[in-house]
This record gives sequence, C-alpha cells and structure tokens, in this order.
Amino acid sequence: MKTIACIAALALGALAAVPAFAEGPHLLMAPAPGHRLDDESLQRGARDFANYCQGCHSAKYMRYNRLTDIGLTEDDIKGNLIFGDAKIGDTMEVAMPAADAKAWFGNPPPDLSVEARVRGTAWLYNYLIGFYRDPKSATGWNNLVFPNVGMPHVLAELQGPRKLVETEYEDQQQAMGAAIAAKTLVGVEPAAGGKWKVLSLSNESPGSMSQVAFESTAADIVNYLDYIAEPSKNHRIRIGIIVLLFLGVLFVVAYALKHEYWRDVH
Ligand code: HEC
Repeated sequence: MKTIACIAALALGALAAVPAFAEGPHLLMAPAPGHRLDDESLQRGARDFANYCQGCHSAKYMRYNRLTDIGLTEDDIKGNLIFGDAKIGDTMEVAMPAADAKAWFGNPPPDLSVEARVRGTAWLYNYLIGFYRDPKSATGWNNLVFPNVGMPHVLAELQGPRKLVETEYEDQQQAMGAAIAAKTLVGVEPAAGGKWKVLSLSNESPGSMSQVAFESTAADIVNYLDYIAEPSKNHRIRIGIIVLLFLGVLFVVAYALKHEYWRDVH
C-alpha cells in the first residue's frame, strides 16, 4: 500500500513539474526595454505608429492634440502625424472600414488605445519582434507570440524577413537551459520520441536596420502604446518625483530644527 502511495505521489510530482503546453509553446520573452518618461522615444513611437500602424489600427480614445504632453508642438503634430483631413482636436481614427478589414484579414485590426493595459508591454514588444515567414498562412507570416495571427509583418522591411528554427534536445532540462542561454524571445515545446525542441527566429536576409536598431524601434512603438493607454500616468509620475524631492528637503530642514530645539536640553 505504502509503495503504491509513493508511486502515486511521485507521478503527481512529475506531472506538476511539466508546464502546461495546451496553448502552443512555452515562451521565454525578452523584457521590453522602453522607458515611459523618455519623451524622445515616445515621439519616435508616435511617428512610427502613424506611419506603420494607423493605416489599419485606430487609437480612438486618444486625441492628436494630447500629444503636446510628450513635447510635440501642434505644428509638429499637424505636419507629421495627421494624414487625411483629420483636425488637431480629433481622435485617432482609421480610414479603413471595419467590414473591409474583416474581409481582408479574417479578424478586424482592433483599436490599440488601451492595448498595452490588456496585453502588457513585454507581450507587445515580443509580438513586434516575433514575426516569421510561414508559407502556409494567408498573409505569408506567422508569429511566435500570437500563433496564426491575421496581421502581416508590417515592419518586415526594417527587420528583414526571419524564419523559424527548430533545434532538438534530448530532454526538457537541456532544452530549457538552451532557451534561457539564448536571452531573447524563444519557445520550448515537446517533440516526437520524448525529445524537446527550442523554437527560435533567425534572419533570412538583413533588413534596412540592424537587429539592435530594429529592437529599439519596436521598443519605441511599445513605449508609445503604453503611454496612450494611460497618458496622464506620466504626469502623475512627474508630480510624484517632485513631491518626494520636496519631502526630502523638508526632512533635512525639520531634522536641523529638531537639533536646534534639543541642544538646550542635552
Ligand atoms: C495591414 C494592416 C495592419 C497594419 C498596418 C498593422 N496591423 Fe496590427 N493587426 C492587424 C490585424 C488584421 C490584426 C488582428 C489579427 C488577429 O486577430 O488575428 C492585428 C492585430 C494586432 C495586435 C494584437 C491585438 C490583440 O490583442 O489581439 C497588435 C498588438 C497589433 N496588431 C499591433 C500593431 C502595430 C504596433 C502596428 C504597427 C507597427 C500594426 N499592428 C500594424 C492588421 C494590421
């Protein structure tokens, strides 16, 4: 009886140690390198979002003139970020009707105003660097983070097309070791015959940017998406820093005063 209980406990333990793979590979994501108080990064993100994303995606809870928050003037915004006949006080709409978009892509491109709050910045960053060529998909592209996604790799020219590379390892431990050592976005999943494989991406040909420059462009876009999901947060953080500095100065003054009062007592 004891032995049976022991075996059952061991088997349960082994099951618990294996992560769930029901929804595609287990992903090891790279952290998003952006910083939300970096106005220059946010301005580059705003420019790239207008050029590469807004043809399909709206950000309809965000008004153009709010971008004066991140150090742009109204003329910068009118000249570089507004295409078509939108006004400076308008929200960021998209020209493509939702019905057409659904017919073309299967799923309509969602509004991205609060996307960063839904997915988080790490997910978004890895999604933007996670596209690879897949001849079996309708767009010719697939994504390691969002399998069978309906969006094409719109930044392919900058990054250069990438392909999926599968490397097999004898067991899960070896595969996880290799995945951690890669220090970038990779997936780990079971392979045939009890083996394990690591899924990684490698360039088929170079893009117009180096990989490092491309990753920083992706980080700028994610930084901008994080900002538009909660624009007033930057203001709150700045006020918070000023309040802490003020309290720091007040502490020094209060401490000196305390010293002065107690000098007569001691
Ligand atoms: C050619 C049109 C097109 C362009 C341009 C485009 N997208 Fe998309 N995007 C889509 C479609 C279609 C989907 C929906 C895919 C699906 O659900 O399968 C999508 C989905 C997404 C999602 C996932 C949404 C979710 O949570 O399900 C994100 C994030 C995203 N796009 C970001 C971007 C960013 C950032 C850019 C600019 C760099 C961009 N997209 C440019 C068509 C586009």
